[in-house]
Amino acid sequence: MELIDGKQTAATIKAEIKKEVEDIVSKGGKRPHLAAILVGHDGGSETYVRNKVLACEACGFQSTLLRFEDDITEEQLLAEVDKLNKDASVDGFIVQLPLPKHISEQKVIEAIDYKKDVDGFHPINVGRMAIGLPCYISATPKGILELLRRYEIPTSGKKCVILGRSNIVGKPMAQLMMQKQFGDATVTVCHSRSKTLKEECLQADIIIAAIGQPAFLKADMVKKGVVVIDVGTTRVPDATKKSGFRLQGDVDFENVAPLCSYITPVPGGVGPMTICMLMLNTLAAGKKMYYS
Ligand code: GUN
Repeated sequence: MELIDGKQTAATIKAEIKKEVEDIVSKGGKRPHLAAILVGHDGGSETYVRNKVLACEACGFQSTLLRFEDDITEEQLLAEVDKLNKDASVDGFIVQLPLPKHISEQKVIEAIDYKKDVDGFHPINVGRMAIGLPCYISATPKGILELLRRYEIPTSGKKCVILGRSNIVGKPMAQLMMQKQFGDATVTVCHSRSKTLKEECLQADIIIAAIGQPAFLKADMVKKGVVVIDVGTTRVPDATKKSGFRLQGDVDFENVAPLCSYITPVPGGVGPMTICMLMLNTLAAGKKMYYS
């Protein structure tokens, strides 16, 4: 069994990005600039956004954080999005989710210029991804593809089972794993209502668990030699931790890991790759790689 080290891989990629940025700047090019909008004081969102700003520094990007209180109106927020759309110094930007209940997340996502949508959440990017056109691919599925590629894990023609059908992970992951240019695999999507979930998993060469239930995938659900990618990050109470919680994946790691050829740990697997892929998308935005 080999552990897939997302932390190390992410550090390597960030160093590669930094090198490329210095190269661009030394030739007189523009330093990539990521802006982030953060509304309110949600603990998780604060941490994510802080880590995104730190990752920008590590990559040599310019970053701008725009903070608003959670009583900002939808209209005001849409006006802020419009300002960033029109600001030529900003290559890409994100609006950190979740947003307060009185604001439509979908409306905000659709207001973002898809050419600056480095989260890859705009329907134009989602649609282009689905038919294999150049576009921003959302960070978690992109990070998983990158881990599989860097660990040279064969996917072509393999049976891949995806647990979960969310817009952010399950659905795009299925689209990408089936496409010839990415996974080239035979893909099955299972979810909380699937009657044959265990049987499907037992036949899988690759399982991507993104179902949001801690320790859901058990040892009696996998075959020997399986590759397991764990996207789960549920906070469970843990008195031995300073924070009072620990992150639990969707996989019963202790019992599943001995059966695997490769497995991602939680934390330190998919998680660190996510922000790193946002950095890769920002680099692409700076280079006008997908859209002019
Ligand atoms: N909230 C949780 N994950 C994400 C993400 O990838 N992007 C944004 N904008 N918000 C999030």
